[in-house]
Amino acid sequence: MERGLRILVVGAGGREHALVRRLAASPSAGALFAAPGNPGTDELAAPVPIGATEVERLADWAAANRIDLVVIGPEAAIERGLADLLQDRDIPVFGPTRAAAELEWSKAFAKRFCTEFGIPTAAYAVFDDPERAMAHVDASSLPLVVKVDGLAAGKGVWICETREQARTAVLSALIDGAFGASGGRIVIEEFLTGEEASVVALCDGERVAPLPPARDYKRLGDGDVGPNTGGMGGYAPHPDIDDLTLADIAQTILQPAIDGLRAMGRPYRGALYAGLMLTAAGSKLLEFNCRFGDPETQVTLPLLEGDFAQTLRDCATGRLDPGAVRWRAGAAACVVLAAPGYPERAMTGSPIDGISDAEAIGATVLHAGTARRNGALVTAGGRVLSVVGEGATLAEARRLAYAGAERITFPGRQMRRDIGARQAARV
Ligand code: AMP
Ligand code: GLY
Repeated sequence: MERGLRILVVGAGGREHALVRRLAASPSAGALFAAPGNPGTDELAAPVPIGATEVERLADWAAANRIDLVVIGPEAAIERGLADLLQDRDIPVFGPTRAAAELEWSKAFAKRFCTEFGIPTAAYAVFDDPERAMAHVDASSLPLVVKVDGLAAGKGVWICETREQARTAVLSALIDGAFGASGGRIVIEEFLTGEEASVVALCDGERVAPLPPARDYKRLGDGDVGPNTGGMGGYAPHPDIDDLTLADIAQTILQPAIDGLRAMGRPYRGALYAGLMLTAAGSKLLEFNCRFGDPETQVTLPLLEGDFAQTLRDCATGRLDPGAVRWRAGAAACVVLAAPGYPERAMTGSPIDGISDAEAIGATVLHAGTARRNGALVTAGGRVLSVVGEGATLAEARRLAYAGAERITFPGRQMRRDIGARQAARV
């Protein structure tokens, strides 16, 4: 009897719960494991009590347990070289090596890479000298965007309407050292206007297969106000990206990136996330992330057809058939329920009620910051749950996501009310 693939998913968020769910529904999947997983993944994947950043232990565990495929969620595991360690042990891994992932952790590297390989992006200049940066600010037209070079946990980007704001941003990044080593270098770039979109592609080192285009909402508050977060909700597909536009994005942004990395001797196997601005002059790259998006994954995977586990394994072994990545008509929307105090300092430990009521009306509830305490489910992180609705249209999908979200309660619950509202009214 043929056994199914033994698959280890690394991570503990809503993205990983969505991955586990989709893998569990794949014909070729066998035993599933999640390290460390969460109370949601526990129902479908055996928990492995190793944290996502304990990369040596994870690689040893995967080798000892005859794992056929490791799927990496968080960037922290990639940054610490989990994919490199697994490759050394000949264990197929969906997730890039450290060298291939430099696109995410250095914005200066990513911008130079775009220039070298002809990938459309905002015009930019890189500085580590404050005086030169100030002179550039004085000579540029407004608005301007100032970004610290390294990983800054979603912070470290200033949209500056005035020269004064741009000078302050340069000062805090280059002189005050507010971002430590990440802020020793900055990128100053042109401000782009348009709709934002996230296109994530599955890659096998040579070929790319985009997932449905998605939209996420990074700001905490309705109408895009308040601090940046990991993402407060989203939907797919993106109504502004038709098949032709998606093919253009694949051809001008995703494929050149994969070709460029291969040419540099850093073949990229994993999910490549392009954060895009759809401008009047075409789609331009805002940033690459070297992983699946969160919450983009929660809204793209439910739409996918085919054998997802096999597709990821094909990517990991350099045999992706892009034609196998298809999706059905319809839409999915996700509303994130966050703990009070998120994103600054989330307050946790409160009981969560109503999940089964949300599921009873057809919403999918994905766990992120939850834990079991004496058998009861409590809040245990900033983003607590993702509530996903599917429907024939975005309007239907968001109605279901919100109907589900309303049924789930915990003290101080934060959620945006406007996920997909403008677009649902339009299409
Ligand atoms: P990033 O971390 O580079 O994705 O930037 C975070 C957010 O800042 C993006 O999602 C955009 O909303 C905004 N942003 C970044 N770069 C630009 C730009 N050049 N023009 C306009 N908005 C930008
Ligand atoms: N939703 C944005 C991200 O995953 O980076």
